[in-house]
Amino acid sequence: MRTSNVAASTGYPAGAGPVFAPGAFDGRVALVTGAAGGMGLESARAFAACGARVVLADRDEAGVREAAANLPDAIALPLDVTDEPAVRRAIDSVVERAGHIDHVLHCAAVITARHSRGADAAHWRQVLDINLVGAFLVAQRALRHMEAAGSGTVVLVASDAGFRGGGGLIADSAYAASKAGVLSLVKSLAREFAPTGVRINALVPGPSDTPMHAAVPAELKQRIAANIPVGRMGRSADMAAAALYLSSAAAAFVQGAALDVDGGLMLR
Ligand SMILES: NC(=O)c1ccc[n+]([C@@H]2O[C@H](COP(=O)([O-])OP(=O)(O)OC[C@H]3O[C@@H](n4cnc5c(N)ncnc54)[C@H](O)[C@@H]3O)[C@@H](O)[C@H]2O)c1
Repeated sequence: MRTSNVAASTGYPAGAGPVFAPGAFDGRVALVTGAAGGMGLESARAFAACGARVVLADRDEAGVREAAANLPDAIALPLDVTDEPAVRRAIDSVVERAGHIDHVLHCAAVITARHSRGADAAHWRQVLDINLVGAFLVAQRALRHMEAAGSGTVVLVASDAGFRGGGGLIADSAYAASKAGVLSLVKSLAREFAPTGVRINALVPGPSDTPMHAAVPAELKQRIAANIPVGRMGRSADMAAAALYLSSAAAAFVQGAALDVDGGLMLR
């Protein structure tokens, strides 16, 4: 079976699997941005393990080509999500090649940790352009196709920083504002598009041990983990499981939600 090898590579705890049975997303086309690594790659693997044809988009061209080469029928889509004409062309090309687009999981983002004292407008514009405008552009073009089809799901990845603010150890004010914007964008899109049969939701990870934090020292990661009620940082597999849930028919009545996947961090 084409799904079994993929399932074996997803890193879920023994016996857990990617929460949905192989075949749960059969016949579906899932576009994942930020798919060259971290949560995006893990989620693309999980979608593929459940039968979806995945389209992996990222500005890291080599990374996304390598990732796609390891998944059955996958399409690699080198893409900078801030490039509006390129986003339009890329998403239209998915529909041309695969016939339809059923799910979008938008993970592409950058994190920055600059104190507000030293942050200038160029810094803010760059972070907002990638993390917020990019999310809008990807969602907007995909929704055009989904609305015409009368079905589909969009999951935009936000962050606990969008609720709690930045200015801490690993995220700054610009990053936090961009993710607060993503949370608000999800609410707006959900209200606008709910009548069309499309669902739009936010996945809200807490601090997670992914390539995004590759430069964070182990000692700091331990301090971050100690501040999380369950006592560890998130994993890409935690986010992939939640992303598949939000994309699945099991979440048919979940619209405009923000799903915290953070080990209880928001309890504090
Ligand atoms: N890791 C965490 O602690 C954490 C916590 C909360 C939220 N998040 C969010 O989760 C999502 C996934 O993060 P991750 O931890 O897997 O990080 P990651 O750095 O592994 O993945 C982000 C991906 O986005 C890509 N990307 C960046 N800018 C892009 C652009 N302009 N166009 C296309 N691709 C671009 C990168 O190349 C990278 O592959 C992000 O939205 C992030 O903000 C992460």
